[in-house]
Amino acid sequence: MLKVAIIFHSVTGTTNSLAQAIKSGVESQKDTEALLIEIKGEDIIEGRFRNESILESLSSVNAVIFGSPTYMGCVSAQFKAFADATGELWEQQSWANKVAAGFTIGSNFSGDQLNTIQYLQIFANQHGMLWTGVDIPGNCDPEQRNRLGAQSGLIAHSPDGKLNETDLITATYLGQRVAQVCARFAA
Ligand SMILES: Cc1cc2nc3c(=O)[nH]c(=O)nc-3n(C[C@H](O)[C@H](O)[C@H](O)COP(=O)(O)O)c2cc1C
Repeated sequence: MLKVAIIFHSVTGTTNSLAQAIKSGVESQKDTEALLIEIKGEDIIEGRFRNESILESLSSVNAVIFGSPTYMGCVSAQFKAFADATGELWEQQSWANKVAAGFTIGSNFSGDQLNTIQYLQIFANQHGMLWTGVDIPGNCDPEQRNRLGAQSGLIAHSPDGKLNETDLITATYLGQRVAQVCARFAA
């Protein structure tokens, strides 16, 4: 059984909805299990992420998909606290060769969400992970998936807290793709 973790932070629920859609995409692939993990405020004590069981649960997965809302042009402070808590894992390169991908959402069409994805990619590469993007060229897809055209990760946009249906479909696709990449490596 392949395992794909989706770890994310969300306050008003839009990143959470994308995570759920990604999960359904992962689970649509045979012999693949999705693990949905939410970073919560209570995991952070005096500015440090302290949830060891979350870090442990990531040790046995084949892939990790990272998600955060775009806050002030990057990941949220809560997501960054989680990232900073992985320093020891980085020293050991414990996550090396796991598949990775990322997703974000912002309330502006071009609210610097790309910087969030680029941060997630750098974070994954620091861990020796293998980054997977979105292989759908924007504007060319008959289903209009990847409507915002980012290929380094899933970028979504919501001005009012409601999810765009096409963004959710793209999220499901990202989950499928990561599961398929894992299956290729496993083979
Ligand atoms: C402190 C703060 C900073 C934000 N910064 C940005 C930003 O830089 N770009 C953007 O497009 N949206 C920005 N937003 C909007 C959020 O990204 C957006 O509301 C997102 O859907 C929230 O995700 P959530 O529902 O998972 O909490 C910001 C929101 C907050 C509260």
